[in-house]
Amino acid sequence: MTQITVPSAAGAYDVHTGPGLLTELPEILAAAFPESRFAVLSDTRVAGLYGEALAAAFTRASLSFETFTVPPGEGSKSLSVFASLQSVLASHRFNRADVLVALGGGVVGDLGGFIAATYLRGIRYVQVPTTLLAQIDSAVGGKTAVNLPEGKNLVGAFYPPRAVYADTDTLQTLLPATFADGMAELIKYALIRDADMFARLERAPLTPQSPDLPALIRRCVAIKRDIVAADERDTGERMLLNFGHTIGHGIERLCAAKKQPMTHGRAVAMGMAAITAASERLELTEAGTAQRIRTVLEMAGLPASIDGFDAQEILSGVLVDKKNIGSALNLVLLRKPGEAFLHPIARADMLQYME
Ligand SMILES: NC(=O)c1ccc[n+]([C@@H]2O[C@H](COP(=O)([O-])OP(=O)(O)OC[C@H]3O[C@@H](n4cnc5c(N)ncnc54)[C@H](O)[C@@H]3O)[C@@H](O)[C@H]2O)c1
Repeated sequence: MTQITVPSAAGAYDVHTGPGLLTELPEILAAAFPESRFAVLSDTRVAGLYGEALAAAFTRASLSFETFTVPPGEGSKSLSVFASLQSVLASHRFNRADVLVALGGGVVGDLGGFIAATYLRGIRYVQVPTTLLAQIDSAVGGKTAVNLPEGKNLVGAFYPPRAVYADTDTLQTLLPATFADGMAELIKYALIRDADMFARLERAPLTPQSPDLPALIRRCVAIKRDIVAADERDTGERMLLNFGHTIGHGIERLCAAKKQPMTHGRAVAMGMAAITAASERLELTEAGTAQRIRTVLEMAGLPASIDGFDAQEILSGVLVDKKNIGSALNLVLLRKPGEAFLHPIARADMLQYME
């Protein structure tokens, strides 16, 4: 287990990443939070895989705990699930000395974090992320949220966890498509900040069994730590984390409107490929970069172009995004793999960056 410390205005916290962490978790929690009760929040799929063994280990460590589960999927990041869990915590008399444990992917992490941010005006919580996306992205940085019918993540808080414990062994049970979704964000980190990591991804596919996966996850956490430390409240440098996301969000919105299945990771993969093809054509990006990105995305089982989509339709999705209101759009582009920069453009010019 190796740790990375993430600074935060609300208090620094450590992100521990490595194999076998779940087995050690009860002892770690008992030492870190003596006298506390634990509210373990998970989704039914993750609880089905890991809940029983974890509960047995909590019991062996003489920890006092209750487990609460929600259905898997984005639907659980809702105000109604949020409200009912607050009532459940109150009815079990959890108090401010107690600790919420969010065991699962980004959905459980975002929901659990927002519950912890608001229950009794804030209780302590730890993240135990079990998807690749959650281990490299959503469990780090302190953003918590639930969705509204009007859009994703519209209600939430900046509320960092007390610690993050990412057991890389849990990634072995992910569906290949869920692992691939996380790979889109991992590839993004390499592209914005780490040319060596990108070269590693070009050499051979990364799988849940790859011996260097824990090290690469830690590298992503360190990149996010550096970027978030410079801009915890997301007003400048943190925008670099949105590489591929402007077009990606447009694709997600378009697919939602057409009731076509689309995941965030796949949409971001297409977004990274499309914007780099355009910026290379506009001579803002080193020649050959777009093809290198396509190859790495395909190796990860991700789509590598927006072929089959109508650019004009995606554009409509991009321009209604609340983040893109105003006369200028802040695009994230690459000079070359490992080097990203912000590139403000006029809204009217966006189509050029999609074809
Ligand atoms: N807070 C942030 O900074 C931030 C950043 C990025 C994304 N997010 C949020 O994260 C969410 C997406 O996260 P996600 O991709 O982890 O989705 P998720 O939490 O829905 O997990 C995906 C699926 O994998 C299953 N799963 C989780 N761990 C498993 C395991 N070890 N083995 C087998 N199955 C497992 C889950 O039950 C679920 O069905 C979105 O709501 C997004 O808004 C937040």
